[in-house]
Amino acid sequence: MRNLLSIRDLDRVRIEELCSLADEFLAVMRRPIPQVPALRGITVATMFFEPSTRTRLSFERAARGLSADVMGFQAAGSSVAKGESLKDTALTLRAMGANIMVVRHGSAGAPKRVAEWTGCPTVNAGDGANQHPTQALADTFALLRRFGRLDGIRIAIVGDVRHSRVARSDVEAFTRMGASVTLVAPPPLLPPDLTGWPVAVSDQLDDLLEELDVVYLLRVQTERGGATVLPSVEEYARRFGLDAHRLGRMPDHAVVMHPGPMNRGVEITPDVADHPRCLVLDQVEAGVAVRMAVLFRLGAGLKGEAPHG
Ligand code: NCD
Repeated sequence: MRNLLSIRDLDRVRIEELCSLADEFLAVMRRPIPQVPALRGITVATMFFEPSTRTRLSFERAARGLSADVMGFQAAGSSVAKGESLKDTALTLRAMGANIMVVRHGSAGAPKRVAEWTGCPTVNAGDGANQHPTQALADTFALLRRFGRLDGIRIAIVGDVRHSRVARSDVEAFTRMGASVTLVAPPPLLPPDLTGWPVAVSDQLDDLLEELDVVYLLRVQTERGGATVLPSVEEYARRFGLDAHRLGRMPDHAVVMHPGPMNRGVEITPDVADHPRCLVLDQVEAGVAVRMAVLFRLGAGLKGEAPHG
């Protein structure tokens, strides 16, 4: 594996292989000293041009768990404010010794450009509304840990699919692993063209609840215009928000997922967010483990090369 730019880069066997590697790294994370020396001497640069809490910290945690050094870059407060380009920023980090690039950017395709400019293995940590492959791996791994398999699992992805890179990556990962996926949203929050999406579509969450194993909730992405296409956020919460009553109509084994950050009171009520069947924190833990697996695979290709190889 040279880069991880899209979940399309991974077939089912690759996804399974990364998840079983993640299982081993989960055990490492639970040790008193949660670290292995696998990437000693390697430097991982986390380049974040959009806000992030869990994804950036998760990559940094994963890199340190492999004994890599971390160079953290956040656009806010950097020379990007002085007009420095993505290309110059990436080349600067490389010149300082970064070997692996982790990139989040508002524009689709930005991580691919960084890979081309720097020649370094690059991971897409979210590019616009396009892809978020490590989130999809985290979610797949969290579901594998819960259910043992995804074959035949029925998943509804509910909310602002239109603006969601998480939904785009998750749909591909979940269906490739054998799950069936229904997108549930008011029409303005669905992508205008769903040709080629291997999904069913509904705007009636209440019709589906009894048949679901997983409800995957998405945040309404106000920064990408998600709220402006809705008549009212209160109306959205009433029709599509998951509350205890709706959770109660789901099968006893069914679980709730959310990539974070959650808008408590909009897509999820606080009692459901804190419910034992809500996997949000399992997803966070799974996220560190799969990112260790991804960095380990990318770093393995660098071992033996000169630091700037
Ligand atoms: C998401 C993102 O930034 O794509 N969060 C995440 O990475 N866990 C989803 C969101 O912002 O709603």
